[in-house]
Amino acid sequence: MTFLMSRRSFISAAAASVLASVARAEVAETPLRVRADKRDLLFGCAVQQDQLHDLPFMQAVARESNILVHETALKWDDVHPEPDRYHFFDADAIAVFASQRNMKLRGHTLCWYAVNPPWVEAKLAEKADERILTDHIERVMGHYRGRMHSWDVVNEALEPKEGHPEGLRKDSIWQKAFGTRYIEIAFHAARQADPNALLFYNDYFLEMDSAEHSARRAALLRLCETLRRKNVPIDAVGIQSHLQAYRQTYNEKIFAAFLSDIRSLGLKYMITEYDVADIDGPADINKRDAELASLTRRFMDVALDSSSCLGVLTWGLSDRYSWLSDPIWGSDYRWPDGQLSRGLPLDWNLKRKPMWYAIARALGSY
Ligand code: G3I
Repeated sequence: MTFLMSRRSFISAAAASVLASVARAEVAETPLRVRADKRDLLFGCAVQQDQLHDLPFMQAVARESNILVHETALKWDDVHPEPDRYHFFDADAIAVFASQRNMKLRGHTLCWYAVNPPWVEAKLAEKADERILTDHIERVMGHYRGRMHSWDVVNEALEPKEGHPEGLRKDSIWQKAFGTRYIEIAFHAARQADPNALLFYNDYFLEMDSAEHSARRAALLRLCETLRRKNVPIDAVGIQSHLQAYRQTYNEKIFAAFLSDIRSLGLKYMITEYDVADIDGPADINKRDAELASLTRRFMDVALDSSSCLGVLTWGLSDRYSWLSDPIWGSDYRWPDGQLSRGLPLDWNLKRKPMWYAIARALGSY
């Protein structure tokens, strides 16, 4: 039996297949923020003030993100350089960019052991006055009151290697000045400063199958259980997720169990600083990109598989700007030959890499 396809039906069939392939292509290229919006999730990235002038880059940021976080502009050394001087200009510029494009904002970070201007430690040494910390929190959060989705109130307070009985970081000006109480002091001040912002505890090396990460997960859960028991106003855990594709191994079951333990404490969570160091990976870039994408898909499938997950932010969006290639902060991860790390969803030329497609598929193909 032969089918005589009329000219008209041939054209309509051809048109239909073209439309279908275009639709598939459009679905395949749907920006990450659109996919996140459809699941009531957040997807975004960290940006620095000097990147605002890179228009093609910022267009990509606006296309892909429904939330931004300041990579450096709201840290003490940037925002509070002297005791009686606050500097919001850079952070405000990022806030304006976000608000003009219907993007949420998250603040990073109100209390960290690192990048505190010298005057802070000097004042604490004179007199360990809690108001040094609480005045900063009130002033900085007050400046953005009602505009911040969330804040990393305390960042990286854990360091089991230092031998503290609860796995806390001893080498911290805040721990030295106030003991462990500084964490509670910070969260109570933060709740008072902006009751509408979600308050996070944020930390790193919580994701992989290793003794170090296991110890950090245990210390984090112990800390959060203590804070919850003392009715400290903590809402969520920030899991930084700076993965190392070729120096650590990832086990879905271990990470899923950790997320379940966070949920059991009545806390939400967010992937707050996602990127993947590709150091020690194969020289072949396509192979490296494919392997980082595979790890990303396996990681995001677990991370996004819970109503307690608020979303994902990557720490930068393009390899053009990544701390992983920074000679100082990225010294453990950068390539000795100076080539850029390929740890983010877009390459140097802002082209979507396999990692972008892995995140897109994990968020859902629309
Ligand atoms: O903008 C100045 C520039 O004007 C100056 O010429 C240059 C040299 O002094 O410094 C530039 O500022 C640097 C800034 O990054 C912007 O590049 C600061 O010195 C440098 O300390 C800062 O490093 C940041 C670091 O945190 C400390 O704030 C990294 O970019 C940032 O990626 C890193 O982010 C941390 C998170 O906050 C916490 N989790 C780990 C993550 C990676 O280390």
